[in-house]
Amino acid sequence: MNKITAAITCVGGYVPETKLTNFDLEKMVDTNDEWIRTRTGISERRILREPGKATSDMAVPAIQEILRKKNLQATDIDCIICATVTPDMVFPATANLISDKLGATNAFGFDIGAACSGFLYALTTGTAFIESGRYKKVIVVGADKMSAIVDYTDRNTCIIFGDGAGAVLLEPSTDDCGVKDSLLKSDGSGSKFLYMKAGGSLNPASMETVMAREHYAHQEGQSVFKFAVKGMADVSAELLDKNNLTGDDIAWLVPHQANLRIIDATANRMGLTKEKVMINIHKYGNTTAATIPLCLWEWENRLNQGDNIVLAAFGGGFTWGATWVKWAY
Ligand code: UT7
Repeated sequence: MNKITAAITCVGGYVPETKLTNFDLEKMVDTNDEWIRTRTGISERRILREPGKATSDMAVPAIQEILRKKNLQATDIDCIICATVTPDMVFPATANLISDKLGATNAFGFDIGAACSGFLYALTTGTAFIESGRYKKVIVVGADKMSAIVDYTDRNTCIIFGDGAGAVLLEPSTDDCGVKDSLLKSDGSGSKFLYMKAGGSLNPASMETVMAREHYAHQEGQSVFKFAVKGMADVSAELLDKNNLTGDDIAWLVPHQANLRIIDATANRMGLTKEKVMINIHKYGNTTAATIPLCLWEWENRLNQGDNIVLAAFGGGFTWGATWVKWAY
């Protein structure tokens, strides 16, 4: 009998309607459209503005799109894995809140916190559940409301991030399509370059932490940039080598959308031309765990069965990784 693989069989996505453009940011901090575009590739990002709306409220419509397209009920879902660094609350897990809002009463779920690599960590975890034969329908969703932890007085970070959610359905397959291999890495010594100081057990919320603006994402951009360029390119090249693949075998690179210059470096290292690289950073910015599934969502209709696709990410932690997927439909 053929080995069971975990096939991505559908994609859904959601971005809020409100746009925050570079020109809007020019009015908020000392920056300009030209700097942001040339240094990052970003022109605008989406922001979830409505009061009372959280990360789960973006994940839910992304998953509902999958249910609609696949003619499934929420009760058909076995498991929901949510990659996020902006959970609705510290606990319960956002996956539990998503299940409740969907009516996915047969699903268990949990969150994975691996920052911008969260979707790859979650996809690899979901893949193992499918490959084991234990579960048949696993939803992997990457969702982040970065605007909740971005300091809109800090020009180093506020120009980069946006809000959004993307989800995939994983199902068993025996026809050699699906998630073929994954290399995941982490190095906690990089935590000092990209983190949120307060709000956890180390520095619980207090008047002092609020006054010191410690409940916002802090990034030393240049340091992260250096590690990201090398980390994402190295792990992608290693994945190709390990599987005896070259750039010619790859139909698409789906890179985490943090900075166009990091994306270009990774594509060059893999020997890929620009036409093979999914890029939507100009309109959504860096949506952390949502960037990769939002690309798959946008490109879904252009993908063909059997296409070799490499997903690659680098993010806070540090965490990074690359995943080889043979497209199933
Ligand atoms: O997704 C998770 C992982 N994160 C990443 O991969 C992000 C990696 N880092 C980056 O993408 C880039 O480092 C940034 C986009 C964050 C910053 O770009 P950079 O080219 O590394 O700029 P920099 O921090 O080295 O700053 C260069 C100059 C500085 O001015 P001086 O010291 O040369 O006079 C900054 O003060 O640009 C200045 N600057 C800005 N100017 C206008 C910094 N931010 C801005 C801004 N607008 N928003």
